[in-house]
Amino acid sequence: MSSSSRTVIRGGLVVTAADELHADVLIEDGRVAALAASGTPAAESLTAAHTLDATGKYVIPGGVDAHTHMELPFGGTAASDTFETGTRAAAWGGTTTIVDFAVQAVGRSLRDGLDAWHAKADGQCAVDYSFHMILSDVDENSLKEMDLLVDEGVSSFKLFMAYPGVFYSDDGKILRAMQRASGNGGLIMMHAENGIAIDVLVEQALARGETDPRHHGEVRKVLLEAEATHRAVQLARVAGGAPLYVVHVSAEEAVAEIAAARDKGLDVFGETCPQYLFLSTDNLAEPGFEGAKYVCSTPLRPREHQAALWRGLRTNDLQVVSTDHCPFCFTGQKELGRGDFSKIPNGLPGVENRMDLLHQAVVDGHISRRRWIEIACAAPARMFGLYPKKGTIAPGADADIVIYDPHAEQVISAETHHMNVDYSAYEGKRVTGRVETVLSRGEPVIADRRFVGRAGHGAYTPRSTCQYLN
Ligand code: URP
Ligand code: ZN
Ligand code: ZN
Repeated sequence: MSSSSRTVIRGGLVVTAADELHADVLIEDGRVAALAASGTPAAESLTAAHTLDATGKYVIPGGVDAHTHMELPFGGTAASDTFETGTRAAAWGGTTTIVDFAVQAVGRSLRDGLDAWHAKADGQCAVDYSFHMILSDVDENSLKEMDLLVDEGVSSFKLFMAYPGVFYSDDGKILRAMQRASGNGGLIMMHAENGIAIDVLVEQALARGETDPRHHGEVRKVLLEAEATHRAVQLARVAGGAPLYVVHVSAEEAVAEIAAARDKGLDVFGETCPQYLFLSTDNLAEPGFEGAKYVCSTPLRPREHQAALWRGLRTNDLQVVSTDHCPFCFTGQKELGRGDFSKIPNGLPGVENRMDLLHQAVVDGHISRRRWIEIACAAPARMFGLYPKKGTIAPGADADIVIYDPHAEQVISAETHHMNVDYSAYEGKRVTGRVETVLSRGEPVIADRRFVGRAGHGAYTPRSTCQYLN
Protein backbone atom coordinates (compact mmCIF):
# COMPACT_ATOMS: atom_id res chain seq x y z
CA MET A 1 0.00 0.00 0.00
CA SER A 2 1.48 3.37 -0.98
CA SER A 3 1.77 5.99 1.75
CA SER A 4 -0.47 8.37 -0.26
CA SER A 5 -3.66 6.73 1.04
CA ARG A 6 -2.40 6.89 4.59
CA THR A 7 -2.82 9.53 7.27
CA VAL A 8 -1.05 9.81 10.57
CA ILE A 9 -2.34 11.83 13.52
CA ARG A 10 0.61 12.92 15.62
CA GLY A 11 1.14 14.06 19.16
CA GLY A 12 -2.37 13.96 20.63
CA LEU A 13 -3.64 12.34 23.79
CA VAL A 14 -5.55 9.30 22.57
CA VAL A 15 -8.49 8.73 24.91
CA THR A 16 -10.59 5.58 24.67
CA ALA A 17 -12.93 4.04 27.22
CA ALA A 18 -10.06 1.82 28.36
CA ASP A 19 -6.92 3.95 28.07
CA GLU A 20 -5.25 7.33 27.78
CA LEU A 21 -1.94 7.48 25.93
CA HIS A 22 0.09 10.08 24.07
CA ALA A 23 0.21 8.21 20.78
CA ASP A 24 0.42 8.63 17.03
CA VAL A 25 -2.36 6.96 15.06
CA LEU A 26 -1.83 5.54 11.58
CA ILE A 27 -4.88 5.30 9.31
CA GLU A 28 -4.88 3.19 6.19
CA ASP A 29 -7.80 2.38 3.89
CA GLY A 30 -10.29 4.03 6.22
CA ARG A 31 -9.27 2.00 9.23
CA VAL A 32 -6.95 2.40 12.16
CA ALA A 33 -3.79 0.53 11.18
CA ALA A 34 -1.51 1.11 14.17
CA LEU A 35 -0.89 3.16 17.29
CA ALA A 36 2.52 3.93 18.74
CA ALA A 37 3.58 5.97 21.74
CA SER A 38 4.50 9.45 20.47
CA GLY A 39 8.18 10.26 20.16
CA THR A 40 9.28 6.62 20.07
CA PRO A 41 11.04 4.95 17.10
CA ALA A 42 7.85 2.94 16.57
CA ALA A 43 5.90 6.17 16.13
CA GLU A 44 8.53 7.60 13.80
CA SER A 45 8.18 4.52 11.61
CA LEU A 46 4.49 5.34 11.02
CA THR A 47 4.84 7.23 7.77
CA ALA A 48 2.06 8.70 5.68
CA ALA A 49 1.46 11.26 2.95
CA HIS A 50 -0.92 13.21 5.21
CA THR A 51 -0.15 14.29 8.74
CA LEU A 52 -2.56 15.85 11.20
CA ASP A 53 -1.00 17.59 14.16
CA ALA A 54 -2.94 16.93 17.36
CA THR A 55 -0.43 18.37 19.82
CA GLY A 56 -2.27 19.63 22.90
CA LYS A 57 -5.52 18.02 21.70
CA TYR A 58 -7.43 14.84 22.46
CA VAL A 59 -7.75 12.15 19.82
CA ILE A 60 -11.02 10.37 20.56
CA PRO A 61 -13.34 7.92 18.81
CA GLY A 62 -16.17 9.52 16.90
CA GLY A 63 -19.34 9.69 18.95
CA VAL A 64 -22.07 7.08 18.56
CA ASP A 65 -25.51 8.60 19.09
CA ALA A 66 -27.83 5.62 19.48
CA HIS A 67 -31.09 7.56 19.63
CA THR A 68 -32.06 10.01 16.88
CA HIS A 69 -35.25 10.78 14.98
CA MET A 70 -34.42 12.48 11.69
CA GLU A 71 -37.55 13.42 9.71
CA LEU A 72 -39.81 11.62 12.21
CA PRO A 73 -43.50 12.30 11.49
CA PHE A 74 -44.89 13.12 14.93
CA GLY A 75 -47.54 15.30 16.55
CA GLY A 76 -49.04 16.41 13.22
CA THR A 77 -45.70 17.55 11.83
CA ALA A 78 -42.23 16.09 11.23
CA ALA A 79 -38.86 16.47 12.93
CA SER A 80 -37.10 19.34 11.18
CA ASP A 81 -33.70 17.74 10.57
CA THR A 82 -33.44 15.58 7.48
CA PHE A 83 -30.85 12.84 7.34
CA GLU A 84 -28.71 15.30 5.38
CA THR A 85 -28.91 18.23 7.78
CA GLY A 86 -28.99 16.08 10.91
CA THR A 87 -25.94 13.98 10.09
CA ARG A 88 -24.01 17.09 9.01
CA ALA A 89 -24.80 18.63 12.38
CA ALA A 90 -23.81 15.37 14.08
CA ALA A 91 -20.41 15.59 12.37
CA TRP A 92 -19.96 19.18 13.51
CA GLY A 93 -20.50 17.91 17.03
CA GLY A 94 -18.06 15.00 16.77
CA THR A 95 -20.63 12.24 16.26
CA THR A 96 -19.73 9.89 13.41
CA THR A 97 -22.47 7.26 13.79
CA ILE A 98 -26.16 7.64 14.46
CA VAL A 99 -28.70 4.91 15.10
CA ASP A 100 -32.08 6.28 13.99
CA PHE A 101 -35.53 4.78 14.48
CA ALA A 102 -37.41 3.37 11.52
CA VAL A 103 -41.15 3.26 12.24
CA GLN A 104 -43.67 0.50 11.60
CA ALA A 105 -46.97 2.20 10.75
CA VAL A 106 -50.08 0.61 12.25
CA GLY A 107 -51.42 -2.04 9.87
CA ARG A 108 -48.15 -2.19 7.90
CA SER A 109 -45.16 -4.50 7.99
CA LEU A 110 -41.80 -3.86 9.59
CA ARG A 111 -40.32 -4.26 6.10
CA ASP A 112 -42.41 -1.37 4.75
CA GLY A 113 -41.28 0.85 7.60
CA LEU A 114 -37.64 -0.10 7.22
CA ASP A 115 -37.74 0.41 3.45
CA ALA A 116 -39.23 3.87 3.97
CA TRP A 117 -36.43 4.84 6.36
CA HIS A 118 -33.77 3.49 4.02
CA ALA A 119 -35.27 5.63 1.26
CA LYS A 120 -35.09 8.75 3.43
CA ALA A 121 -31.47 8.17 4.45
CA ASP A 122 -29.91 6.62 1.35
CA GLY A 123 -27.39 8.97 -0.27
CA GLN A 124 -28.11 11.74 2.23
CA CYS A 125 -25.89 11.11 5.21
CA ALA A 126 -22.58 12.76 6.02
CA VAL A 127 -21.69 10.10 8.61
CA ASP A 128 -22.51 6.42 9.04
CA TYR A 129 -25.93 5.32 10.21
CA SER A 130 -27.90 2.30 11.36
CA PHE A 131 -31.52 1.67 12.29
CA HIS A 132 -33.57 0.45 15.21
CA MET A 133 -37.19 -0.50 14.50
CA ILE A 134 -40.19 1.00 16.30
CA LEU A 135 -42.89 -1.65 16.75
CA SER A 136 -46.30 0.06 16.57
CA ASP A 137 -48.36 -3.00 15.68
CA VAL A 138 -47.25 -6.24 17.31
CA ASP A 139 -48.98 -9.18 15.64
CA GLU A 140 -48.00 -12.62 14.31
CA ASN A 141 -46.47 -11.15 11.16
CA SER A 142 -44.45 -8.45 12.83
CA LEU A 143 -43.19 -10.96 15.42
CA LYS A 144 -41.90 -13.19 12.62
CA GLU A 145 -40.36 -10.21 10.87
CA MET A 146 -38.36 -9.39 14.01
CA ASP A 147 -36.26 -12.51 13.41
CA LEU A 148 -35.49 -11.45 9.85
CA LEU A 149 -34.54 -7.95 10.92
CA VAL A 150 -32.15 -9.21 13.61
CA ASP A 151 -30.46 -11.33 10.94
CA GLU A 152 -30.04 -8.39 8.60
CA GLY A 153 -28.62 -5.96 11.15
CA VAL A 154 -31.61 -4.26 12.73
CA SER A 155 -31.26 -5.91 16.10
CA SER A 156 -33.15 -3.59 18.45
CA PHE A 157 -36.86 -2.81 18.74
CA LYS A 158 -38.49 0.11 20.48
CA LEU A 159 -41.84 -0.33 22.19
CA PHE A 160 -43.94 2.39 23.76
CA MET A 161 -45.87 2.18 27.03
CA ALA A 162 -46.81 5.82 26.22
CA TYR A 163 -48.68 7.59 23.41
CA PRO A 164 -51.97 5.59 23.25
CA GLY A 165 -53.37 5.68 19.72
CA VAL A 166 -49.98 6.43 18.19
CA PHE A 167 -47.08 4.13 19.07
CA TYR A 168 -48.57 2.52 22.22
CA SER A 169 -48.44 -1.23 22.83
CA ASP A 170 -50.39 -2.85 25.66
CA ASP A 171 -48.70 -5.22 28.10
CA GLY A 172 -49.75 -8.29 26.10
CA LYS A 173 -48.13 -6.98 22.93
CA ILE A 174 -45.04 -5.98 24.87
CA LEU A 175 -44.83 -9.44 26.42
CA ARG A 176 -45.10 -11.10 23.00
CA ALA A 177 -42.36 -8.90 21.53
CA MET A 178 -40.15 -9.58 24.53
CA GLN A 179 -40.70 -13.33 24.24
CA ARG A 180 -39.65 -13.12 20.61
CA ALA A 181 -36.57 -11.07 21.47
CA SER A 182 -35.54 -13.51 24.19
CA GLY A 183 -35.26 -16.12 21.43
CA ASN A 184 -33.80 -14.16 18.54
CA GLY A 185 -31.12 -12.00 20.17
CA GLY A 186 -33.01 -8.74 19.73
CA LEU A 187 -32.79 -5.97 22.31
CA ILE A 188 -36.06 -4.43 23.49
CA MET A 189 -35.85 -0.66 23.94
CA MET A 190 -38.62 0.70 26.12
CA HIS A 191 -40.28 4.10 26.33
CA ALA A 192 -41.33 3.60 29.93
CA GLU A 193 -44.19 5.92 30.88
CA ASN A 194 -47.72 4.86 31.77
CA GLY A 195 -49.41 6.54 28.82
CA ILE A 196 -52.93 5.43 29.69
CA ALA A 197 -52.77 7.12 33.10
CA ILE A 198 -50.97 10.16 31.64
CA ASP A 199 -53.78 10.68 29.12
CA VAL A 200 -56.33 10.84 31.98
CA LEU A 201 -54.20 13.47 33.73
CA VAL A 202 -53.80 15.44 30.48
CA GLU A 203 -57.57 15.53 29.99
CA GLN A 204 -58.13 16.63 33.61
CA ALA A 205 -55.43 19.32 33.43
CA LEU A 206 -56.85 20.78 30.22
CA ALA A 207 -60.37 20.75 31.74
CA ARG A 208 -59.00 22.88 34.60
CA GLY A 209 -57.60 25.33 32.06
CA GLU A 210 -53.98 24.27 32.66
CA THR A 211 -52.75 24.66 29.12
CA ASP A 212 -49.17 26.00 29.47
CA PRO A 213 -46.08 23.97 28.56
CA ARG A 214 -45.12 23.47 32.21
CA HIS A 215 -48.19 21.27 32.69
CA HIS A 216 -46.64 18.78 30.26
CA GLY A 217 -44.07 18.06 32.98
CA GLU A 218 -46.68 17.96 35.73
CA VAL A 219 -48.98 15.35 34.17
CA ARG A 220 -46.15 13.05 33.09
CA LYS A 221 -45.41 12.14 36.66
CA VAL A 222 -42.22 10.63 38.03
CA LEU A 223 -44.30 7.84 39.56
CA LEU A 224 -45.67 6.95 36.13
CA GLU A 225 -42.16 6.69 34.70
CA ALA A 226 -41.02 4.58 37.67
CA GLU A 227 -44.11 2.37 37.52
CA ALA A 228 -43.69 1.72 33.82
CA THR A 229 -39.97 1.01 34.26
CA HIS A 230 -40.78 -1.50 37.00
CA ARG A 231 -43.48 -3.12 34.85
CA ALA A 232 -41.16 -3.35 31.86
CA VAL A 233 -38.56 -5.13 34.00
CA GLN A 234 -41.13 -7.62 35.31
CA LEU A 235 -42.49 -8.28 31.81
CA ALA A 236 -38.95 -8.92 30.57
CA ARG A 237 -38.44 -11.43 33.40
CA VAL A 238 -41.73 -13.17 32.60
CA ALA A 239 -40.64 -13.29 28.97
CA GLY A 240 -37.69 -15.47 29.93
CA GLY A 241 -35.15 -12.79 30.62
CA ALA A 242 -35.46 -10.73 27.47
CA PRO A 243 -32.78 -8.02 27.53
CA LEU A 244 -34.25 -4.60 28.19
CA TYR A 245 -32.82 -1.15 27.45
CA VAL A 246 -34.83 1.68 28.96
CA VAL A 247 -34.56 4.81 26.81
CA HIS A 248 -34.47 8.45 27.94
CA VAL A 249 -34.48 7.79 31.69
CA SER A 250 -35.19 11.08 33.45
CA ALA A 251 -36.27 10.36 37.04
CA GLU A 252 -34.36 9.24 40.12
CA GLU A 253 -37.05 6.65 40.87
CA ALA A 254 -36.67 5.11 37.40
CA VAL A 255 -32.89 4.87 37.88
CA ALA A 256 -33.61 3.06 41.15
CA GLU A 257 -35.80 0.51 39.32
CA ILE A 258 -33.02 -0.15 36.81
CA ALA A 259 -30.39 -0.39 39.54
CA ALA A 260 -32.55 -2.86 41.50
CA ALA A 261 -32.97 -5.02 38.40
CA ARG A 262 -29.25 -4.95 37.69
CA ASP A 263 -28.50 -5.84 41.31
CA LYS A 264 -30.53 -9.01 40.68
CA GLY A 265 -28.25 -9.77 37.73
CA LEU A 266 -30.90 -9.05 35.09
CA ASP A 267 -29.98 -7.86 31.59
CA VAL A 268 -31.47 -4.42 32.12
CA PHE A 269 -29.74 -1.32 30.78
CA GLY A 270 -30.47 2.39 30.92
CA GLU A 271 -29.93 5.43 28.74
CA THR A 272 -30.25 9.05 29.70
CA CYS A 273 -29.88 12.19 27.58
CA PRO A 274 -28.15 15.56 27.96
CA GLN A 275 -31.48 17.37 28.42
CA TYR A 276 -32.13 15.48 31.67
CA LEU A 277 -28.59 16.13 32.89
CA PHE A 278 -28.44 19.85 32.10
CA LEU A 279 -32.05 21.13 31.89
CA SER A 280 -35.00 20.97 34.28
CA THR A 281 -38.64 21.88 34.87
CA ASP A 282 -37.38 25.46 35.34
CA ASN A 283 -36.97 25.53 31.56
CA LEU A 284 -40.47 24.17 30.99
CA ALA A 285 -41.76 27.00 33.17
CA GLU A 286 -40.02 29.76 31.19
CA PRO A 287 -42.39 32.69 30.62
CA GLY A 288 -44.73 33.10 27.69
CA PHE A 289 -44.71 30.04 25.49
CA GLU A 290 -40.90 29.61 25.73
CA GLY A 291 -41.34 26.42 27.77
CA ALA A 292 -42.57 24.68 24.61
CA LYS A 293 -38.95 24.51 23.45
CA TYR A 294 -38.31 22.01 26.24
CA VAL A 295 -41.32 19.71 25.76
CA CYS A 296 -40.17 16.14 25.33
CA SER A 297 -41.14 12.77 26.79
CA THR A 298 -40.12 11.56 29.26
CA PRO A 299 -40.29 15.18 30.44
CA LEU A 300 -37.65 17.36 32.04
CA ARG A 301 -37.66 16.85 35.81
CA PRO A 302 -36.94 19.08 38.83
CA ARG A 303 -33.18 19.62 38.94
CA GLU A 304 -32.89 17.43 42.08
CA HIS A 305 -33.12 14.38 39.81
CA GLN A 306 -29.87 15.25 38.05
CA ALA A 307 -27.63 14.00 40.86
CA ALA A 308 -29.16 10.51 40.59
CA LEU A 309 -28.61 10.49 36.82
CA TRP A 310 -24.96 11.50 37.18
CA ARG A 311 -24.53 8.89 39.91
CA GLY A 312 -26.13 6.25 37.70
CA LEU A 313 -23.70 7.11 34.93
CA ARG A 314 -20.76 6.78 37.31
CA THR A 315 -21.92 3.50 38.87
CA ASN A 316 -22.87 2.02 35.47
CA ASP A 317 -26.53 1.65 36.42
CA LEU A 318 -26.94 3.86 33.33
CA GLN A 319 -24.66 2.88 30.48
CA VAL A 320 -25.36 5.27 27.61
CA VAL A 321 -26.00 8.93 26.91
CA SER A 322 -27.84 9.46 23.63
CA THR A 323 -29.61 12.60 22.50
CA ASP A 324 -33.13 11.50 21.50
CA HIS A 325 -32.56 14.22 18.89
CA CYS A 326 -36.05 15.05 17.63
CA PRO A 327 -36.08 18.73 16.68
CA PHE A 328 -39.14 20.85 16.00
CA CYS A 329 -38.86 24.55 15.18
CA PHE A 330 -40.39 26.92 17.70
CA THR A 331 -42.07 28.89 14.92
CA GLY A 332 -44.77 26.87 13.24
CA GLN A 333 -44.09 23.55 14.98
CA LYS A 334 -43.86 23.96 18.77
CA GLU A 335 -46.46 26.68 18.26
CA LEU A 336 -49.01 24.02 17.31
CA GLY A 337 -49.49 23.63 21.06
CA ARG A 338 -50.31 27.25 21.98
CA GLY A 339 -53.34 27.00 24.25
CA ASP A 340 -52.99 23.19 24.63
CA PHE A 341 -49.69 21.76 25.85
CA SER A 342 -50.70 18.27 24.68
CA LYS A 343 -50.44 19.46 21.07
CA ILE A 344 -46.81 20.60 21.37
CA PRO A 345 -44.73 18.16 19.31
CA ASN A 346 -42.50 16.22 21.71
CA GLY A 347 -38.78 16.38 21.19
CA LEU A 348 -35.60 18.41 21.57
CA PRO A 349 -32.62 19.08 19.32
CA GLY A 350 -29.19 18.01 20.52
CA VAL A 351 -27.28 15.74 18.13
CA GLU A 352 -24.65 18.46 17.69
CA ASN A 353 -24.25 19.22 21.39
CA ARG A 354 -23.86 15.84 23.09
CA MET A 355 -20.08 15.35 22.91
CA ASP A 356 -19.42 18.92 24.07
CA LEU A 357 -21.94 18.81 26.91
CA LEU A 358 -20.48 15.55 28.15
CA HIS A 359 -16.97 16.98 27.93
CA GLN A 360 -18.26 19.85 30.06
CA ALA A 361 -19.36 17.17 32.54
CA VAL A 362 -15.71 16.05 32.64
CA VAL A 363 -14.63 19.65 33.26
CA ASP A 364 -17.28 19.96 35.99
CA GLY A 365 -16.11 16.74 37.68
CA HIS A 366 -19.24 14.62 37.12
CA ILE A 367 -17.43 11.94 35.10
CA SER A 368 -13.88 11.03 34.14
CA ARG A 369 -12.45 11.56 30.67
CA ARG A 370 -12.58 7.82 29.95
CA ARG A 371 -16.14 7.55 31.22
CA TRP A 372 -17.02 10.34 28.75
CA ILE A 373 -15.79 8.14 25.92
CA GLU A 374 -17.42 5.06 27.42
CA ILE A 375 -20.95 6.51 27.67
CA ALA A 376 -20.81 8.48 24.39
CA CYS A 377 -18.85 6.12 22.11
CA ALA A 378 -17.89 2.66 23.36
CA ALA A 379 -20.99 1.64 25.35
CA PRO A 380 -23.54 2.62 22.67
CA ALA A 381 -21.40 0.80 20.10
CA ARG A 382 -21.33 -2.35 22.27
CA MET A 383 -24.98 -2.07 23.25
CA PHE A 384 -26.08 -2.01 19.64
CA GLY A 385 -23.60 -4.39 18.03
CA LEU A 386 -21.23 -1.93 16.40
CA TYR A 387 -18.10 -2.55 18.47
CA PRO A 388 -15.14 -2.49 17.83
CA LYS A 389 -15.82 -1.20 14.30
CA LYS A 390 -17.22 1.89 16.02
CA GLY A 391 -16.65 3.39 19.46
CA THR A 392 -12.91 2.93 19.90
CA ILE A 393 -9.50 3.65 18.39
CA ALA A 394 -7.74 0.33 17.90
CA PRO A 395 -6.16 -1.51 14.98
CA GLY A 396 -8.92 -2.67 12.64
CA ALA A 397 -11.54 -0.18 13.86
CA ASP A 398 -13.08 2.25 11.41
CA ALA A 399 -11.05 5.45 11.46
CA ASP A 400 -13.92 7.51 12.87
CA ILE A 401 -11.77 9.90 14.83
CA VAL A 402 -12.22 13.32 16.37
CA ILE A 403 -9.42 15.74 17.17
CA TYR A 404 -10.87 17.57 20.14
CA ASP A 405 -9.54 20.80 21.62
CA PRO A 406 -10.19 20.50 25.36
CA HIS A 407 -9.28 24.14 26.05
CA ALA A 408 -11.36 25.99 23.43
CA GLU A 409 -14.27 27.97 24.84
CA GLN A 410 -17.58 28.19 23.05
CA VAL A 411 -21.09 29.47 23.67
CA ILE A 412 -23.84 27.20 22.38
CA SER A 413 -26.34 29.09 20.25
CA ALA A 414 -28.86 28.67 17.45
CA GLU A 415 -26.93 31.48 15.72
CA THR A 416 -23.98 29.19 15.21
CA HIS A 417 -25.30 25.62 15.34
CA HIS A 418 -25.86 23.52 12.23
CA MET A 419 -29.04 21.67 13.19
CA ASN A 420 -32.05 22.66 11.11
CA VAL A 421 -34.00 24.13 13.99
CA ASP A 422 -34.63 27.75 14.96
CA TYR A 423 -33.62 27.55 18.62
CA SER A 424 -31.10 25.87 20.87
CA ALA A 425 -32.17 24.12 24.07
CA TYR A 426 -28.80 25.23 25.50
CA GLU A 427 -28.82 28.83 24.21
CA GLY A 428 -26.07 30.89 25.84
CA LYS A 429 -24.47 27.96 27.68
CA ARG A 430 -20.70 28.39 27.89
CA VAL A 431 -18.74 25.17 27.50
CA THR A 432 -15.07 24.33 27.46
CA GLY A 433 -13.95 22.06 24.63
CA ARG A 434 -14.70 21.94 20.94
CA VAL A 435 -14.45 19.61 18.00
CA GLU A 436 -11.70 20.63 15.63
CA THR A 437 -11.36 17.88 13.03
CA VAL A 438 -13.53 14.83 12.30
CA LEU A 439 -12.65 11.82 10.19
CA SER A 440 -15.25 9.30 9.08
CA ARG A 441 -13.63 6.07 7.89
CA GLY A 442 -10.45 8.10 7.41
CA GLU A 443 -12.10 10.79 5.25
CA PRO A 444 -12.15 14.35 6.60
CA VAL A 445 -15.68 15.54 7.29
CA ILE A 446 -14.77 18.51 9.47
CA ALA A 447 -11.28 19.95 8.92
CA ASP A 448 -10.16 22.70 11.27
CA ARG A 449 -13.79 23.74 11.87
CA ARG A 450 -14.81 23.68 8.20
CA PHE A 451 -17.31 21.19 6.81
CA VAL A 452 -15.57 19.28 4.04
CA GLY A 453 -17.82 16.22 3.98
CA ARG A 454 -20.64 15.36 1.65
CA ALA A 455 -24.11 13.91 1.66
CA GLY A 456 -23.77 10.28 0.64
CA HIS A 457 -20.42 9.62 2.28
CA GLY A 458 -22.24 8.14 5.27
CA ALA A 459 -22.87 4.42 4.83
CA TYR A 460 -25.66 2.27 6.16
CA THR A 461 -24.07 0.04 8.80
CA PRO A 462 -25.81 -3.20 9.74
CA ARG A 463 -25.34 -4.24 13.34
CA SER A 464 -24.78 -7.46 15.22
CA THR A 465 -26.67 -8.12 18.46
CA CYS A 466 -26.08 -6.50 21.84
CA GLN A 467 -22.52 -7.22 22.97
CA TYR A 468 -23.30 -6.98 26.71
CA LEU A 469 -25.05 -10.35 26.56
CA ASN A 470 -23.48 -13.76 26.74
O1 URP B 1 -40.05 13.63 23.17
C1 URP B 1 -39.53 12.72 22.55
N1 URP B 1 -38.75 11.91 23.21
N2 URP B 1 -39.72 12.59 21.23
C2 URP B 1 -39.26 11.56 20.41
C3 URP B 1 -40.03 10.29 20.51
C4 URP B 1 -39.59 9.44 21.67
O2 URP B 1 -40.42 9.10 22.50
O3 URP B 1 -38.42 9.10 21.76
ZN1 ZN C 1 -39.50 7.56 23.57
ZN1 ZN D 1 -36.80 9.01 20.94
